[in-house]
Amino acid sequence: MSETGKPISRIDGSMKVSGKALYSAEFNQPNMAYVFPVRATIAKGKIAAIDDTVAKKEPGVLAVISHLNAQKLKPMDMQAQMKAGAAFLGENLPPLQSNVVHYPGQFIAMVVAETYEQARTAAYKVKVRYTKEKAAVDLKAEIPNSKRPKMFMGEEAQVNEGKAAPLLAASAQKVDHKYSTPVEHHHPMEPHATVAVWDGKDRLTLYDATQGVGLTGAIAAYFLDLKPENVRVVAPFVGGGFGSKGLWLHTLIVAMAAKAVGRPAKLALTRQMMQTNVGHRAATVQRVALATDTNGKLSVMRHHTDTYNNLTQFFEPSGKQSLVLYKAPLREVTYNVAQLNRSTPTFMRAPGESPGTFALESAMDEMAFKMKIDPIEFRIRNHTTKDPMQGHDFSSEYLLDCYRIGAERFGWSARSIEPRQKRQGRYLVGYGMATATYPGGRSAASVKVVMDAKGKVTVSTASIDIGTGTYTVLAQTVADALGIPVDTIEVRIGDSSLPAAPLAGGSQTTASIHPAAVEACVLLRRDLAALAIADPDSRLSGQRLEEIDFAKGKLFVKSDDKKNDSYLNILSRSKRTELEACATTLPVSGAGLTVPSALCTPRETPAEQNSDIKQYAFHSFGAQFAEVWVDEDFGTIRVKRFTSVQDVGRIMNEKTARSQVIGGVIMGIGAALMEATDYDQRWGNPVTRTLADYHVPVHLDVPPIDVHFIGKNDPHISPIGARGIGEIGITGVSAAIANAVFNATGKRLRDLPLTPEKFYEV
Ligand code: MOS
Repeated sequence: MSETGKPISRIDGSMKVSGKALYSAEFNQPNMAYVFPVRATIAKGKIAAIDDTVAKKEPGVLAVISHLNAQKLKPMDMQAQMKAGAAFLGENLPPLQSNVVHYPGQFIAMVVAETYEQARTAAYKVKVRYTKEKAAVDLKAEIPNSKRPKMFMGEEAQVNEGKAAPLLAASAQKVDHKYSTPVEHHHPMEPHATVAVWDGKDRLTLYDATQGVGLTGAIAAYFLDLKPENVRVVAPFVGGGFGSKGLWLHTLIVAMAAKAVGRPAKLALTRQMMQTNVGHRAATVQRVALATDTNGKLSVMRHHTDTYNNLTQFFEPSGKQSLVLYKAPLREVTYNVAQLNRSTPTFMRAPGESPGTFALESAMDEMAFKMKIDPIEFRIRNHTTKDPMQGHDFSSEYLLDCYRIGAERFGWSARSIEPRQKRQGRYLVGYGMATATYPGGRSAASVKVVMDAKGKVTVSTASIDIGTGTYTVLAQTVADALGIPVDTIEVRIGDSSLPAAPLAGGSQTTASIHPAAVEACVLLRRDLAALAIADPDSRLSGQRLEEIDFAKGKLFVKSDDKKNDSYLNILSRSKRTELEACATTLPVSGAGLTVPSALCTPRETPAEQNSDIKQYAFHSFGAQFAEVWVDEDFGTIRVKRFTSVQDVGRIMNEKTARSQVIGGVIMGIGAALMEATDYDQRWGNPVTRTLADYHVPVHLDVPPIDVHFIGKNDPHISPIGARGIGEIGITGVSAAIANAVFNATGKRLRDLPLTPEKFYEV
């Protein structure tokens, strides 16, 4: 019986609920000092003076560090950073190196003290005098000064610029509207934290809440000017990331503090700091125009986004899905990117698709309604089986099944095209749907498998479990690849001293590390077989390698399973204490980041880059369905039930996979109905500062969520057949909800979140 796919509970679950699973802030060290940062209170300008005389006299204070006395870091140099795998610093601002302030909340100094409370008290007594400059704080006001970036993450950013206008002008049927989305913050349950421990002057260990130990290590090594192999990053458990746990400045600050005072040091960010120092999803104003022929076939799609960045090349790529979905012969996707004196935007769960599908899938609903076509029928008429930009077939694509199965499970046929047809007491009831999509990424990865003389197997790779189930699913894969029970396998991840793996981002972990794990198991079985074949005392003595199969901890001859030998006996007769195999596999899709195969010396040349990359486009798809109840008197919207059908390749664990999609849908409900960070329009500081006013869905906001997987293997992404699953769940959710609100009320709300007052603005 295969373990893969079974809905087994997390193997690390009992460690988590019993407190044995240590998160980075819990790696307390003997003689540890505490760091508390001082944050800028202006949006733009220069630090004219820092007066630390009072702060320094506070009890327990060991040091006050600012640009005036901080260790010099290596300066930014994108080319050198790329070479070192150190390009993805959260913001391009090596900390405490100058007196320039770029945004409110920027770390400008820190206090190091004996206790957290002492550091915090003293930090508030550091007096800073600024020379203020005129800051850019309002997106609308800055759009006229914005740039049109040529590239986004190595891809052309402006696609077919200006080409849609003539077609749109000539078209009979069109919709053309603005949709806007607010600033959103990730707010993973575990706040960011770092413990830094130096061993001499040139060896550093960081216990860091990160989505990528390799990435964090490379960046820390670069800026602190250390040998990469001398920086070890440890993160066995991470309590959520959603894109916010790359490397941010606090990690470097703690290392600098620890060095300055000659003691281990810790910094745990407050919830308030998570609103300003570890990224966010930038606001977008999107304009989407669609035109069709008289049969409802799209002739042109135009998707323009106004957004902003600061201290980074990254911007919210909300036009991404408009280059993947539907069969329109021409699509124009463009961006204006302003620069604001606001904390730095970054990747957040389905960066691009999350706000982008709100705009595109709302517009699709508007067009369908205009033509009085059922929204699913409209999407079916415009379905594409090929990537519309390159013309490649999708590697594996069952979107039409998602629509059909979703409609059946949800009961879509009870919906009327005309709004305001259904009531429940005082509520108007509506149904809405939207398409979900996210790329299927896969990166290079190395995995090591070790079997000891007692038969215990340890699988290790520098991957991360951000709460997704990496531990569990990896154990299932290795169990199948060796024919042993899940509970004889120990999984070691979250340590940069293990064989390299990509960061847990871009929904690529499973697709990347599992092929390498299987390869390592193949090598291990082959080594076991070779030992048995060469051993005159084995029943497999003298057999041919190709004739040998495996099951239940044994090798046997395919044609005669009485000729068998157990792993344990083979190992014990060979007098080995353990057997080890390590494998590196290369990416097929190229969509993710690549990692070097450090720490794994492959005994074979890894397979050449799979030629499938040239022939196929790798994407996941899904269909989202929402029922909402709207109270017209109060403008309140409740999601009453939700159905999500996902085509994400093979399902490795039905339970953890389902949890991923549920989590995505809940985050999408948050984006649809409540999540937003507001900024003071005069000073640029966030006025939404904590989870008291940054509202996320609570249990009462979350209805029953029906998740269904198509579950068909993707034959091209890897021999395993699994694509990623972490991000697609959020895509299309806010559009499905807004479309359901229209179906309920006849009101089209185009500005997220759909808070009650918006209801009266239209
Ligand atoms: Mo994800 S936004 O790639 O962590």
